[in-house]
Amino acid sequence: MNSYCIQDFLDEIKLKRFENLHQFWRELDSKYPPQKVKELERAYAKLEDNDEAGFYDVIFAEYEIALLFSGLRIGLYQAVIEWILLSLSDREPERILDAGCGNGIIACYLAKRFTKAKITAIDISESAIEQAKALASTLNLTNIKFKVGDIKDFDTTDSFDTILTVAALDVTSPFLIKQMHNLCKHLSDDGIMLNFEKIANPQIQKFFAQAMNESALYLDLENSKWLKYNNAEGDEINIPAFASLKKGDQEPVSEQQIQSFMLAESNLLTNLDLSFKQEALAELLFNQLNPKELMRGYKAEFKDGSGTYWFEQWQSGPFSLLYEHTDQGYRNLRILPLYLASKFDVIFEEWLEQTSKYAEMEQLK
Ligand SMILES: C[S@@+](CC[C@H](N)C(=O)[O-])C[C@H]1O[C@@H](n2cnc3c(N)ncnc32)[C@H](O)[C@@H]1O
Repeated sequence: MNSYCIQDFLDEIKLKRFENLHQFWRELDSKYPPQKVKELERAYAKLEDNDEAGFYDVIFAEYEIALLFSGLRIGLYQAVIEWILLSLSDREPERILDAGCGNGIIACYLAKRFTKAKITAIDISESAIEQAKALASTLNLTNIKFKVGDIKDFDTTDSFDTILTVAALDVTSPFLIKQMHNLCKHLSDDGIMLNFEKIANPQIQKFFAQAMNESALYLDLENSKWLKYNNAEGDEINIPAFASLKKGDQEPVSEQQIQSFMLAESNLLTNLDLSFKQEALAELLFNQLNPKELMRGYKAEFKDGSGTYWFEQWQSGPFSLLYEHTDQGYRNLRILPLYLASKFDVIFEEWLEQTSKYAEMEQLK
C-alpha cells in the first residue's frame, strides 16, 4: 500500500473546501449566470424534499458543478476514507466494488491508493458515471472501471474482497434487502463489506439489521465505528459506519447488535445506586427489563455473618446490566449498551478480588 494521503488527493482533484454554505453559493454566483444558480438552488432544495435523484440529475450534469458540490462533502470524504483505510489496514485489497459511487471521488482515491487493486464503481445515474470517468481520466487511472447499474440487480462474474457503499443504499425501501443480497452475492468468502449509511431511526435500524442478517453477514465490531465530521453548515454529524464479514464465530447480524451499536454513541451509562437513594428505582427497573439472561454472577456470604451479597451481570435486549443486591436492601443497577459490556469487566474483577477476601463465594454462572 502506498501512503498517498487524503489531502494530497483532494488538492490534486482541486476540490474546493467551503467553510459554510454562504461561501459556497457566493462561489457559484461568481462563476455562473443567475439563471443557472437558480436552477442549482432549486435542485438543492430537492434534497430537503428527499428527492435525491432529482438533485443528482442536475448536479451530475456538469463535471465542474458536480465537483463544486463535492466540495461541500470534504468532511465526510475524509472521515469515510480514513475509516476505510483503517478497516483495510491488515488486508491487501485486490478487487474493490464501490456501489453507488456518484462522481467517483472515493473510488478514484482508492484506485490511487491501492494501485495493485482493481476497482469497479457503479451508479444508477448515467451522468454520475460520466463525471466519475472524467475524474478518473484526469488522474490517468488505469485500474478502475465504471458501469451504469442498479445495486439490486447489478451482475458480473467478478467477486470482490471489499465492497463499499457510501450514502447509496435505499435504506428506507423494501429494495434494501435485494441490494444487500446482491452485494453479498459478489463478496468473496473472506471479503469485507463497508456500509456508511444514514440509519438513524429505530425502524431503519431494524430493517438494516434484517437485510444484513438475511444476507448472512457478521458484524465486524472492531472495524464498525461511529464517524464524526462537520458538514458544510458547521454542524457536527455523527453517522454509524458498519463493517461486516461473510464469516464469523457468532450469529449473523442481529437487531440487538445494531441497536446496541446505535446506543453506544449516546454514552449511555445509567447508574442507579444507594448513594442517590435510588435502590427502589434500581430494583424496579431491573425487574421491568425482560426478558433477560444471567451472563455471570456470584453470591458472597460474608464470613463475619454480616449478610449476603449478589453481584450479577445480565443481558436484556441490547443492554448489559450490572446488578448488585444484598439481603439488607442495598441495590445498585448499572446499564450499558451491550456493545460496551466489556467496560463492566474491570468492575466485576475488582469486586470479585476484594469480596473474596472476606466472603465465601458461590459462582452462580
Ligand atoms: C449521496 S450519493 C453518494 C455518492 C458517493 N457514494 C459518494 O459518497 O461520494 C448517492 C449515489 O447513489 C446513487 N444511487 C442511488 N440509488 C442507487 C442504486 N439503486 N443503484 C446504484 N446507485 C444508486 C445515486 O445515483 C448517487 O450517485
